[in-house]
Amino acid sequence: MALLIKNIRELVQVENKPKLKVSGKEMSKIKTISDAWIYIEGDRISDFGKMKDIPDFSKAWGMKMKVVDASGRMVFPSFCDSHTHLVYAGSREIEYIDKIKGLSYEEIAERGGGILNSARRLHEATEDELIEQALPRLQEIMMLGTGAVEIKSGYGLTVEDELKMLRVIRRLKVMTPLTIVPTFLGAHAVPIEFKGRQHEFVDMVINEMIPQVASEDLADYIDVFCERGFFTVDDTERILTAGMKYGMRPKIHANEMYHSGGVQVGVKYNALSVDHLEYTGDAEIECLLGSETMPTILPGAAFFLGLEYAPARKMIDAGLPVALASDFNPGSSPSGNMQFILAMACIKYRLLPQEAINAVTINSAYAMGLSEEYGSIAVGKKANLFITKPIPSYEFMPYAYGSNKVETVILNGEVVK
Ligand code: NIG
Ligand code: FE
Repeated sequence: MALLIKNIRELVQVENKPKLKVSGKEMSKIKTISDAWIYIEGDRISDFGKMKDIPDFSKAWGMKMKVVDASGRMVFPSFCDSHTHLVYAGSREIEYIDKIKGLSYEEIAERGGGILNSARRLHEATEDELIEQALPRLQEIMMLGTGAVEIKSGYGLTVEDELKMLRVIRRLKVMTPLTIVPTFLGAHAVPIEFKGRQHEFVDMVINEMIPQVASEDLADYIDVFCERGFFTVDDTERILTAGMKYGMRPKIHANEMYHSGGVQVGVKYNALSVDHLEYTGDAEIECLLGSETMPTILPGAAFFLGLEYAPARKMIDAGLPVALASDFNPGSSPSGNMQFILAMACIKYRLLPQEAINAVTINSAYAMGLSEEYGSIAVGKKANLFITKPIPSYEFMPYAYGSNKVETVILNGEVVK
């Protein structure tokens, strides 16, 4: 099956020589082709160019070819959302009301709410129930333009329930056209039963969870919530060392509420990404420079919890790359809308639209190890893209922050909406 999209007003984020990520000043550049076409064969981008140079596809018309006229519309590569917790049971709007009344995220967690609340509910849910709840979330983000998504465990907190979550994520992989990347986050919170015995919980993560997750090959990456009140730098080092023995590369929750040392420990263990970064100063920036670790900012959590906004502008000006992701989860960011994340990047973090687009496509693809195949329009890459509604410019995407600008979604070369 082939697909030709023609009369595209602007084809956005085109690469002739694909890069794995873009950093610093490079982030303000986006290549586009106006009045363009793109040709897709099977699940791959086969070629693209300007309408005035469009080849004669009539020969190919013997084979099955669908033609889409995108007059007045733009084509973007799908968003890559490199940080979510979108498999969860129920919702936590009651805590949200506590937050409105003045309790902080940490105070709610200390009372056994927060992640532990989600863990109790997850414990009671069957795999099938978790799938039933996750599928509409996946469907929703797909319709909003996401094409690849990372999903973490971390609401299990027992061996059985962590395995249950990861098995659910594995089953979801074949139930949707989205590309799903699984991450093991056994060290997300210390369960009440282990209060005062955190060391023993960390032992359990290392000695029981990690070997079983690895033996079923359930996760590509390993994550730790390295934060005061959650897991220390020492705990993090022990867990990462254990996970890396089984080939799971780190992706760390770091510096969300304090200068936790999470960035430094992430870089030390060559994490693929360090995420959140609200508390990032010169020392963290210095440490990230020259590393292979992608600083990943989660505007949804900062917005929803009323946190400091991470110094993304300063990071890019210092020469770093930046990725953006949704953090879709029931406690700190109950939305996976990457169009909103793109807008937040410009409005609250002062990224230029070009920088923001790089952050939600190629750099976020890098942050889940997918940027060879995803995150831009390049020959041979996966044909994951979307056609917008009629819009005047690509800057309109982050500008019109409240409306859905995506009209047609194409994943693996097929129109899914
Ligand atoms: O990334 N910070 C830790 N984990 C999630 C929140 C999880 C929850 O509150 O359920 C986050 O914000
Ligand atoms: Fe998170």
